[in-house]
Amino acid sequence: WAIRLRKYQGFWFPQQILPGSMAMQQNFKARPDDVFVLSHPKSGTTWLKALTYAIVTRTKYPFDRHPLLSQNPHECVPLMDRSYSTGQDSEIEAMPSPRILNSHLPYSLLPHSIKSLDCQLIYVCRDPKDVLVSRWFFNNRMRSEGMEPIPFTKAFEMFCEGNSPYGPLWEHVLEYWEESQRRPDKVLFLKYEEMLEEPMRIVKRLAQFVGCPFTPEEEKEGVVEEVVKLCSFDKMKSLEVNISGKLRPEFVTNDAFFRKGGAGDWRNHMDPEMARKLDRVTEQKLEGSGLTLNAVGVEAAA
Ligand code: A3P
Repeated sequence: WAIRLRKYQGFWFPQQILPGSMAMQQNFKARPDDVFVLSHPKSGTTWLKALTYAIVTRTKYPFDRHPLLSQNPHECVPLMDRSYSTGQDSEIEAMPSPRILNSHLPYSLLPHSIKSLDCQLIYVCRDPKDVLVSRWFFNNRMRSEGMEPIPFTKAFEMFCEGNSPYGPLWEHVLEYWEESQRRPDKVLFLKYEEMLEEPMRIVKRLAQFVGCPFTPEEEKEGVVEEVVKLCSFDKMKSLEVNISGKLRPEFVTNDAFFRKGGAGDWRNHMDPEMARKLDRVTEQKLEGSGLTLNAVGVEAAA
């Protein structure tokens, strides 16, 4: 993957992040009004962060002078796993409430205080075929540790075996899915594809979930549309901060987070046989859970 992975409690972690994730697991102190954006990477995290942040801050900033116009969503909503691995956890502690925080940890490894305080959790998942393609392109941009990118066919095999950053993807998704079934008022489970299809509905649902629903006046004034527009792929991709900005000196430029957007790019990178194989893995893994992830099945796409 052009990054080294280490297995910890059933999941594969980027080696550079793992010590921070473990420290976070042990030391992070949640607050009751924290909201957590959670995901397996490349599933729509950046978009969900932007939407959640825009919703919560909508009365604080006018839309034409909103922080998301000059800051990447990962600056507005920090990835805790990264903050803990770079010694910037004090910045998380210093954030004023209510905080919106992000993690890629699977549910089983979340810090205890998040669970014991019953914090609001928002999880997003995506068709695994598109997650894989998105991951592969992202890692080709990373080239950290002097490692060369791997061919797509090799990435495909590793991904199917669960050997990918924060993989196995299915276990990651299932843990949150099951928790969302047990505690629907505390765990909101979203799919990237339904966000694409019905952004207005999802934005209203998100606002309700985090405790700041849109008023009838706001709806009439088009505030829901403003949030959707501010966070849309085309808008975010076109912002100067997301064209040439960088989160950290050694990291990719922000444009790597806004590659193509949309569903179904896997068709341009997988032959039908590969896609069918990955769909089968997904179906087997999710069997009996009541969850489906193959947004556009191979047969439907043919
Ligand atoms: P692609 O690589 O398929 O284009 P994550 O944020 O979890 O890393 O996921 C990245 C994926 O979300 C990328 O997919 C990226 O283009 C897409 N994305 C980023 N911002 C988006 C937005 N505002 N709306 C829709 N998709 C977005």
